[in-house]
Amino acid sequence: MGAFPNPFPGNVERKMSNAELMQALRHDISGELEAIFLYDAHYHATDDVVAKEVLGDIRDEEKAHVGELMTLMQYLDPKEAAFFMEGETEVHEMLEKLGMDKKKKTEIAPAAGPTVGSLVE
Ligand SMILES: [Fe+2]
Repeated sequence: MGAFPNPFPGNVERKMSNAELMQALRHDISGELEAIFLYDAHYHATDDVVAKEVLGDIRDEEKAHVGELMTLMQYLDPKEAAFFMEGETEVHEMLEKLGMDKKKKTEIAPAAGPTVGSLVE
C-alpha cells in the first residue's frame, strides 16, 4: 500500500546501480502482485457489470506489468534470467514426467490487449 502522507517515499538521491535497480524491480513486482490480488478480490466482490469490466481490465493490465518488469530484469541481469529459465525448465520437466502438455498454459484466458509476449519463446 502507498505511504500517502509522505509524497517522496521512493525517491533516490542518486542514480541506482544495476544491482540496486534489480532490487527496486523486485519491489515493483511485489507491488504489481499486490495490486492484482486486490483488484481480483474487488472484481469477485461485486456483481456490478461495469465495475467488473473496469476492475478486471485493470487487474489484467497489472499482470502485463509483471511480465514487463520480469522481462526488464532478464535484460538487465542475464544471470537472473538464467535462474528464471532454470525454474521454467524444472516445471516443464515435471509436466513431462506427469505426461502433461507444457503448452497447456496457452489455453488459459488470452490477454485482452497487447502483452510483452511469451517469456518462453
Ligand atoms: Fe501496474
